[in-house]
Amino acid sequence: MTREFFPATYPGLKGRAVLNTGAAKGIGYAMAQAFARHGAHLMLVDMDGAALEAAAERLRTDYPDARVETYQGSVTDEADVAAACTACADAYGSLDILLTNAGISMNRPSIELSLDDWRRALDVNLTGTFICAQAAAKHMIAQGGGVILNTASMWGLSASANRAAYCASKAGVISLTEVLADEWAGHGIRVNAICPGYIRTALTDELISQGKLDLPAIEARTPQGRMGTPEEVAEMAVYLASDAAVFINGHSHLSDGGFRARGF
Ligand SMILES: NC(=O)c1ccc[n+]([C@@H]2O[C@H](COP(=O)([O-])OP(=O)(O)OC[C@H]3O[C@@H](n4cnc5c(N)ncnc54)[C@H](O)[C@@H]3O)[C@@H](O)[C@H]2O)c1
Repeated sequence: MTREFFPATYPGLKGRAVLNTGAAKGIGYAMAQAFARHGAHLMLVDMDGAALEAAAERLRTDYPDARVETYQGSVTDEADVAAACTACADAYGSLDILLTNAGISMNRPSIELSLDDWRRALDVNLTGTFICAQAAAKHMIAQGGGVILNTASMWGLSASANRAAYCASKAGVISLTEVLADEWAGHGIRVNAICPGYIRTALTDELISQGKLDLPAIEARTPQGRMGTPEEVAEMAVYLASDAAVFINGHSHLSDGGFRARGF
C-alpha cells in the first residue's frame, strides 16, 4: 500500500523568523509554505523579483496569519545578503532560521564545461551558501542561537557523470555544513544539510524538456518509482528546524525515495 503524504506539526515554529533563499520557486517556495503553515515569519530572498513578489502574494493569500517580507538579491552578493539578514532582524526582531536553498544546476560533459560555468555553479551553490551562513550567524551569535539548513543534494554524496561542477559544489556544501556545525555549536547554532533526490520543480522540468534528464529512466531507477515533490522535502526542513531536532547537528539528510540505497 502506498502511504499518502501526511505533514506533521511543530507548534514551536510559530513566530520564528525564517530567512529563505531561492524562495520564489520549487523547493524554496514549498519550504516557505511549510513554515507559513506553522505561523513563522518569513523573509523571502530571490534574484527573480517578479516571481518573488508573486510567491509572497500567494503566501499572504493562502496563510493570512503569516508575516511575509521579501528581499530581491543574489546570494552571491555579500551586500545583498547582509542587507537581507538585517531586514529580517529589523522586521521580526531576530533571525532564527536560515534556509540556504538557492541553487542552480550545471549538467555538462566535463570536457565541455567552461571555466565560467564551473565558477558560476561554485559561486551560487557553495560560495553563496557560505556568504548566507556567515551573515546569518553574526545575527544568531548575537541573539544566542539559531538553525541553519543548507540545501545540498544527493549528488553531493554520490558521483554522477556530466555533473562535475554541480557535484563538487554540493559536496562542498556538505563539508561546509559539518565544519560550521562543529564551529558554531558552542553558540547554540545547529547546522544541517538537506539532500533531495530527484524532485519535480522548474529546475528539473527544464532539464527534462532539454533532454538532460530522462524521466522514465529516473522513475525506473528509483525504488519508490517516482520523483519526489517539493512539499516532501520541505517537511524535512520544518522537522530539522524545529526543537524536535535539537540534538541533530552536522548531518546530511536525504529525501530520495530510496535512490541512493539501491546502489550498483
Ligand atoms: N529539484 C531537484 O531535483 C533538486 C535535487 C537536489 C537538490 N536540489 C537543490 O534544491 C535547491 C532548489 O532547487 P529547485 O529545484 O527548487 O530550483 P528552482 O530553479 O525551481 O528554484 C531555485 C530558485 O533559486 C533562485 N536563485 C537562483 N540563483 C539565485 C541566486 N544567485 N540568488 C538568489 N536566488 C537565486 C531562482 O530564481 C529560483 O527561484 C537548489 O539548491 C538545488 O540545487 C534540487
